[in-house]
Amino acid sequence: MSETAKIILDGKEFELPVVVGSENEKAIDITKLRDLTGYITLDSGYKNSGATKSAITFLDGEEGILHYRGYAIEQLAEYGSFLEIAYLLIYGELPTDDQLSYFTKSIGHHTLVHEDMKRFYEAYPTGAHPMGVLSSMIASMSTFYPESQNPNQHFKDIELTIHRLMAKMPTLAAQAYKVSIGHPIMYPRNAYSYTQNFMHMMFALPTHDFEPDPVIDDALNKLLILHADHEQNCSTSTVRMVGSSQSNLYSSISAGIAALWGPLHGGANQAVIEMLDKINASGGDVSKFVAKAKDKNDPFRLMGFGHRVYKNFDPRAKIIKKACDDVLNRMGIHDPVLDIAKQLEEVALNDEYFVERKLYPNVDFYSGIIYRAIGIPTEMFTVMFALGRLPGWIAQWKEMTEQGEPIGRPRQIYTGPTLREYVPIAKRH
Ligand code: CMC
Repeated sequence: MSETAKIILDGKEFELPVVVGSENEKAIDITKLRDLTGYITLDSGYKNSGATKSAITFLDGEEGILHYRGYAIEQLAEYGSFLEIAYLLIYGELPTDDQLSYFTKSIGHHTLVHEDMKRFYEAYPTGAHPMGVLSSMIASMSTFYPESQNPNQHFKDIELTIHRLMAKMPTLAAQAYKVSIGHPIMYPRNAYSYTQNFMHMMFALPTHDFEPDPVIDDALNKLLILHADHEQNCSTSTVRMVGSSQSNLYSSISAGIAALWGPLHGGANQAVIEMLDKINASGGDVSKFVAKAKDKNDPFRLMGFGHRVYKNFDPRAKIIKKACDDVLNRMGIHDPVLDIAKQLEEVALNDEYFVERKLYPNVDFYSGIIYRAIGIPTEMFTVMFALGRLPGWIAQWKEMTEQGEPIGRPRQIYTGPTLREYVPIAKRH
C-alpha cells in the first residue's frame, strides 16, 4: 500500500497521500487539505512547499547534486555546448546532429530584432541598468508579435516564439550595452556561434572586428550551461506564476528577468564583484568584512555566500572556481580580486557562524571574476545570468503549459483588523 500522512485537527484524523518523485523525494499532497479540514498551510518563502511536479531539473541540496533531464551538470559543463543543453532542457532529450543543426539554424535565422525597437533605446537615460532595459525590451516583443498573446496558439507558433526568444535576447542584451556606452549598435553575424555572435555584438565596432577567442568561447559556454536551469527558484517560479494566468511567453520571461535582477538572486554576481573590489580598495582585510556579515545589527551579508537549497556545497561553484583559475591562467591575467575571493572563502569556511548555518560560496561567487576577465562590464553580469537561464525559463513555462497547471494563487492568514465601522472624515480625530 502506498504511504500516507496522518494529520489530527480538532480531534479528527485525516489521511493525506504521499507523492514520491523519481529520485525518491517525498511530499505530502495537500491538494484537498482545505476542502477536507478547512485549514491551509503556512510557509513563508515557500521553504517547504512544492509548487509543481517537474521532469526538468533535479537537485539535492544536501549532497550538492544537480542534474538537467537526468544528466550530471559536471558532464554537461565539460562536454556540452550551450545550444545543445538548451535543446535538452526545452525538448527533454539531447539533440541528434540533425536536430541540433536545425535548432542552431533556426535561431541564427531570427537574430535580428525589428528596427522600430531601436527607437526605444533613445528614451532610456544614460547609464540605464541593462537589466531594466532588457526586461522592458522582452516584454515589448509581445507587441511586435501579437499572435503570441493568443493562449490557444498552435504548437508551431509557440516553437517560433521560443526560437525568436533564444535568438533575439542576446541581440537585445548587447544592444542595451552598446547604447549605454554611446556606441553604435552592431548587427548579429550568423556565421558565428551563439556565444561568438554575442561577443561580436558586444565588442565589435564599425571600425574593427571582434576576434573570436576559443578560451573566451569555452568559458562563456560553461557559464551559460551552469546557469541554464535551477528548478523552482525565485525567477523561474515567477515565470511559471505569470504564465499560469495564460499571459504570453514574452511577458513571462520579462517578469523572470525582473525577479532575477535582485541582489539576493541573480543580481548577486554584480554585488559580489563590487564587494570584492571594496574589500580590495580598503586594504584587503577580509576578516573585517566577515565580522560585519556576522553582526546582526549590520545589514551587510557576504554576497555570493549561502543558498536556499544547497546546504553542503553548490556544485556549480566548484566547477566555476576551477574554470576561473583556468581562464585567468590561460589569458595570463592576474586579478587581485581572485586572491581576496580565495581568502574570504577560506576564512568564512572555517568560521563557526558560516559552518553552523551551512553557508558556502554559491554559483555567483566566482562567476563575476571570469566575466571581468573576458571583458564583460560589471552591470552586464546579471544579464549574462539571464541569457544562461533563458532556456530553463522557457522549458519550465512550456512544461507548465503542457501540464495544464491551474492559475497560481496562494492563500494567506489574515492578520489585519476585524470588521469595523466606517467613520466620515469630519468625525475622525
Ligand atoms: N552572509 C551572512 N549571513 C548569511 C548569509 C550571508 N551571505 N546568508 C545567510 N545568512 C544567515 C542569515 O542571516 C540567517 O542567520 P540567522 O539564522 O542567524 O538569522 C541564516 O544565515 C539563514 O539565512 P536565510 O536568509 O534565512 O536563508 P535563505 O534561504 O532565506 O536565503 C540567500 C538564501 C541566498 C538569499 C542568502 O543566503 C543570501 O542572502 N545570500 C547572499 C546573496 C547571494 O549570494 N545570492 C545568490 C544566491 S545563488 C544564485 C541564485 O540562484 O540566485
